[in-house]
Amino acid sequence: MLLANKMTHRGLTYLADRFTDGRGLLGLRLGHLNTLTISTPLMAKQALKIHDVVFSNRPASIAITYLTYNRADMAFAHYGPTWRHMHKLCVTKLFSHRHKNSWFSVRREVSSTVVVISNCSGRPVCIGEMIFSLAKNIIFSAAFGSHSHGNEDLIGIIQEFSKLFGAFNIGDFFPWLRWLDLNGLNKRLKKARLELDYFIDKIIEEHRENPKAKDDVNRDMVDEMLDFLKDTEVIGKSNFGQAEELKNLGLTRDNIKAIIMDIMFGGIETVASAIEWAMAELMSCPNERHKVQTEIAEVVGLNRRVEESDLDKLTYLNYVVKETLRLHPPIPLAPHETADDIILDGRFVSARTRVMINIWAIGRSKSAWKDPDAFRPSRFAIGERKAAHRDFRGSSFEFIPFGAGRRSCPGMQLGLYAMELALAELLHCFDWELPDGMSSSELSMEDSFGLTVPRAFRLVAVPTLRLTCPLEI
Ligand code: HEM
Repeated sequence: MLLANKMTHRGLTYLADRFTDGRGLLGLRLGHLNTLTISTPLMAKQALKIHDVVFSNRPASIAITYLTYNRADMAFAHYGPTWRHMHKLCVTKLFSHRHKNSWFSVRREVSSTVVVISNCSGRPVCIGEMIFSLAKNIIFSAAFGSHSHGNEDLIGIIQEFSKLFGAFNIGDFFPWLRWLDLNGLNKRLKKARLELDYFIDKIIEEHRENPKAKDDVNRDMVDEMLDFLKDTEVIGKSNFGQAEELKNLGLTRDNIKAIIMDIMFGGIETVASAIEWAMAELMSCPNERHKVQTEIAEVVGLNRRVEESDLDKLTYLNYVVKETLRLHPPIPLAPHETADDIILDGRFVSARTRVMINIWAIGRSKSAWKDPDAFRPSRFAIGERKAAHRDFRGSSFEFIPFGAGRRSCPGMQLGLYAMELALAELLHCFDWELPDGMSSSELSMEDSFGLTVPRAFRLVAVPTLRLTCPLEI
């Protein structure tokens, strides 16, 4: 149990501070596995840039293997030709800025969330839940062309997936103890995958029943993937699970299910937790909230909604986004694995070492950031001279909320756009107060640990309409 507590982003940061002399490489032999945690910008650059190819595999924990249909997905596949094919498909069909359907979904979903909130003006609103629902709708319509399949259940399942992906499983390190299932994870894994299967099957069935022509502009990534399978003519539900290699792409039906799972999981909780943390930080720092709201009012004016073309002019909002992702990177520990033996900072690291890039620790590194635990968006403007030029596109290793190198996040542009537009609209359309006279210093900033780190307690606040124009969609 003690070990499990130490294997979180905070626990590993504490161990690295204590035992690595500031060098940021913490090696632990746990049972039959070698693990390495990287906690400094310098070492992250070594692993994710200089030796990127060696560090581009993913570890196969029991949870990862089971939840990803035996690693048939992209996010947890080893680096190689199959990963490259799946990556290309996702980039062209979902993430590319040119794929305007994804971008349109963000605008439409943000807009309808604002309308829902406006109906609750003057009353406490669970912002956390609304944002989660917003992120879910964005990803569903951008990636799967549909809207909702039983919202509440899905959110719970995704949260459970995150916990299971990040959970410390004693069976990973001591395989001979696996059958005992000391942490009771096996049962939870089975239940979670079965429950998510229901949603994924539904998405696939809907696409099969409504096939779209090759030149249909509304084709999404599921249509595209199903086309790869057409040759086999055996897409019936009962056949899912068989690993039929397709000649042209090597995609199997398990790949399709697993990629859908990646997108659901990778896209929903990351975006939702980033927006919720930004709102929480702004609720606990009223001055900062006021600064962003003033900027948006000046650029946009209170007589209209925020548009995509305004975002580039909202500089302070952009600093708020950066500062939130620095303090609360949605994926605090990026899981990697070495493909070969390598010497890192004079230290031998064997092939198949499980590597965790501690993105959370790097963003709070005392040597890289002044006052690292403070929420101070202005640091990206004039604060520290060095910080002003740091961005998250993978070239500033002090700041890597989306990772860096080959395995960096392919959803970055979509995630950032969703985050910026949602925040801009929430702050522009409404004034916000904490409920029941709660003061900003009383707001809890506790996080909960999984593969992602959402807030431990959902954010609740009271909106009051601020705009002078109607809010129609
Ligand atoms: C604020 C939003 C987001 C953040 C901060 C974020 C962060 C990350 C991080 C840290 C990684 C791992 C990088 C590494 O291992 O070095 C990652 C990978 C990934 N993300 Fe995101 N992400 C976000 C949004 C999204 C969205 C919207 C999607 C999909 C719709 C997505 C899909 C993925 C996928 C599929 C991977 C695995 C890539 C691979 O292994 O090749 N992410 N993300």
